Amino acid sequence: VFHSAIMANSRRKLIFNIYIGFYCSAVIQICICSQFTSSSIDQFNKDRGAFPVAINGEIFPWHELRLPTMVIPLHYDFVHPNLTSLDFVASEKIEVLVRDATQFIILHSKDLEIMNVTLQSEEDLRYRKPGRKLTVLSYPAHEQIALLIPEKLMADLRYSVAIDFQAKLADGFEGFYKSTYRTLGGETRTIAVTDFEPTQARMAFPCFDEPLFKANFSIKIRRESRHVALSNMPKVSIHAAPDKWSQTHYALEASLKLLDFYENYFDIHYPLAKLDLVAIPDFESGAMENWGLVTYRETSLLFDPKTSSTSDKLWVTRVIAHELAHQWFGNLVTMEWWNDIWLNEGFATYMELISVNVTYPELQFDDDFLDMCFEVIKRDSLNSSHPLSNQAETSTHIKEMFDAVSYKKGACILNMLKDFLSEEKFKKGIIHYLKKFSYRNAKNDDLWSSLSDDCLESDSTSGGFCYSDSKTASNTLTFLREKVDVKQVMATWTLQKGIPLVVVNREGRSLRLQQERFLNGVFKEDPEWGALQERYLWHIPVTYSTSSSNAIHRHILKSKTDTLDLPEKTSWVKFNVNSNGYYIVHYEGHGWDQLITLLNQNHTFLRPKDRISLIHDAFQLVSAGRLTLDKALDLTRYLQHETSIPVLLKGLEYLELFYHITERRNVSDVTENLKHYLLQYFKPVFDMQSWCDEGSVWDRRLRSALLKLACYLNHAPCIQKATELFSQWMESSGKLNIPTDVLKIVYSVGAQTTAGWNYLLEQYERSLSGAEKNKILYALSTSKHQEKLMKLIELGMEGKVIKTQDLAALLHAIARNPKGQQLAWNFVKENWIHLLKKFELGSFPIRMIISGTTSHFSSKDELQEVKLFFESLKAQGSHLEIFQIVLETISKNIKWLEKNLPTLRNWLLISI
Ligand code: BES
Ligand code: ZN
Repeated sequence: VFHSAIMANSRRKLIFNIYIGFYCSAVIQICICSQFTSSSIDQFNKDRGAFPVAINGEIFPWHELRLPTMVIPLHYDFVHPNLTSLDFVASEKIEVLVRDATQFIILHSKDLEIMNVTLQSEEDLRYRKPGRKLTVLSYPAHEQIALLIPEKLMADLRYSVAIDFQAKLADGFEGFYKSTYRTLGGETRTIAVTDFEPTQARMAFPCFDEPLFKANFSIKIRRESRHVALSNMPKVSIHAAPDKWSQTHYALEASLKLLDFYENYFDIHYPLAKLDLVAIPDFESGAMENWGLVTYRETSLLFDPKTSSTSDKLWVTRVIAHELAHQWFGNLVTMEWWNDIWLNEGFATYMELISVNVTYPELQFDDDFLDMCFEVIKRDSLNSSHPLSNQAETSTHIKEMFDAVSYKKGACILNMLKDFLSEEKFKKGIIHYLKKFSYRNAKNDDLWSSLSDDCLESDSTSGGFCYSDSKTASNTLTFLREKVDVKQVMATWTLQKGIPLVVVNREGRSLRLQQERFLNGVFKEDPEWGALQERYLWHIPVTYSTSSSNAIHRHILKSKTDTLDLPEKTSWVKFNVNSNGYYIVHYEGHGWDQLITLLNQNHTFLRPKDRISLIHDAFQLVSAGRLTLDKALDLTRYLQHETSIPVLLKGLEYLELFYHITERRNVSDVTENLKHYLLQYFKPVFDMQSWCDEGSVWDRRLRSALLKLACYLNHAPCIQKATELFSQWMESSGKLNIPTDVLKIVYSVGAQTTAGWNYLLEQYERSLSGAEKNKILYALSTSKHQEKLMKLIELGMEGKVIKTQDLAALLHAIARNPKGQQLAWNFVKENWIHLLKKFELGSFPIRMIISGTTSHFSSKDELQEVKLFFESLKAQGSHLEIFQIVLETISKNIKWLEKNLPTLRNWLLISI
């Protein structure tokens, strides 16, 4: 066994631990249940017809998806023996506490063969009496088993249940599954890994697989001496396949920094004696926060200085920051049920912002965070969105809860709350929450009470208000005089779906505000608009600054309409300062014109994030039929002089988007003119770009984005330089170091010839860097040749050269290529059954495959085709939330083109 250890120089010692062989990670799966009243044995005896039938034909004594609470687990003790044969025979002991007398125990089990179950009372244990054998019934539809007890289990007593079971290591990515990697020497090695969240622990051992049933675990793993076993408790390391050792340095540095940050910030020590971070060669999601043993997809943990770009570095940092935040938000304090998964995921995502800003300020994560909010606004402004806190019962529905709304909207509304409470008060509140609910479960309301304006211990009070000691909180003090009820305000953001639109109307010195529900693709004049508005009302913490004062003014808009008085005569007003609020703003009357004039005169009067939000809101309002496209385009005219890179990129993003939309629909006159406009209008910035890795993070991201666009538009100097670099790289047999920020562009240009494409595919197989492989795979997917694209799909389905974990991203990339969109879609339709064998129905890859291959469609025929396909899936019993999202998105695209294509065409004619 190759083994090397490096001690990191820190208060906490982490060991770099490179090893060969098997490992098994186990997570303390945390679980739940609700208040059932119908669980009594009497009801069971009375009403047998209401219960389902177990596979052996007997009545199964429980009909709910959620487990009863009569029996709760206290401790699990289990052994997972030898993994060499790829099946496992295991035994576990569960110590349970009986809360209400019962004649059965219901727990979860999926795809496990239960061989023997025995029960011992405390007395039996004391006198070493053998266990009594129990009958087991299984009800696979609910992934449950029932253990029938001949005599009743008595309330308030403890019992020990011993279960012997066996199973095969799973093929997919869930439960207890196998993963493989190849060494430089060509040897294929196998690993056994667990991935449990949200409902997969039941595939590794019978258990109470719900978040409320938190319990203690003792795990023993039997292994051969050449194997390594990793679990949640001591053993301190970062682990990866041996040949990837050099890529682990950055993760070690980042995890130490971030762990220190969180311990300070939360004022709560990381409670375990160790933390392992493990790069797993086959992993479905980006990472998983197992307590003390965080598992990652290789590209989420490994950083290769030669091939990882600045965006890759940001990603690795974010994922580590996210998973470490979960050690507090999620592991220390767990949500009661999956309906509130946003308390885990929204918080972890929000903490990325807070921790990365402090530990890696040079990564300038702020503007990316804003982009994340914009991304979820797209989703949340469709009627098919859902409230942050949302009912979820079935495994599929629970999996679907891990979506943009839980992660991104969760994080964005927390950021808004922090902005209006003040950073200091917000931080105190969450520390209070974490301390109060440590090792327990919590729900939405518990968070709000911890954050509410009841004074926290260290606040001084006066006149019934809480005053914090910070000098910076002056705005908040005035604001707090309005006596904010945090729970009441936040209920409007978490219990109802959607995003509000604030319409501002100025009459002299008075500002009339009005709120409505913002709907993308539904116009005010549409018949359904009225019904979609009914009963929606938010408590919106609005902020604004004006031409006469740069200060941040605050107000809570609690009713449909309200009026504010401007203190002095002002020429312009900008709402949603720094874009911290989760709402869109429309300026009626001359509002937009005044802002456009301002941007043209001197854009620096407004903060960069305010300029970003103006661009964003203007184009969103176009989609909602509230602003004409030419007005939004006029707003971007000043961009030639824009001094802030994130703002410039935001404007470019929309123009580029229109290019892709028209290109896909073959509207060649508009595509050509848009190309001409982009190349001509942004020529000075294009010409400034060099092919290197120098500069700040944003200089580097601008370079990547602009050169990518220039080469995509076939701009001759770009293609020439990329071709030259690609040839040199090929001649050097892949040894030449190309600047990482332009690597993907060079590969994509190189992939356009058959020789280049084939060479890239060879390099793909050879490369040990996940970051490089992603770039190559993207480049391969931009080929214009259908047979090459089909070959990629075949390789992805085979799962050897292109791993199954990368199949969803591959199909998505091919569908983005105008020459591949139909191919990818047809493939998905025809191979649906095969895809479902690889991934579970509600899983992230399945949702990505569906949305990735359909949501860019923009014609009525395509809509019809997609609708028919979804109908056929529903008829087979597969129903997903994403179906409705996709259908609404396509309808919205159709409507956008109908309304705006002529405007875009004319605007370009007068602009070039
Ligand atoms: N808890 C999740 C992993 C997960 C995802 C479990 C989906 C169950 C279903 C983990 O903390 C996570 O959120 N991972 C993200 C990465 C993060 C940086 C956004 C992921 O996998 O994409
Ligand atoms: Zn997470």
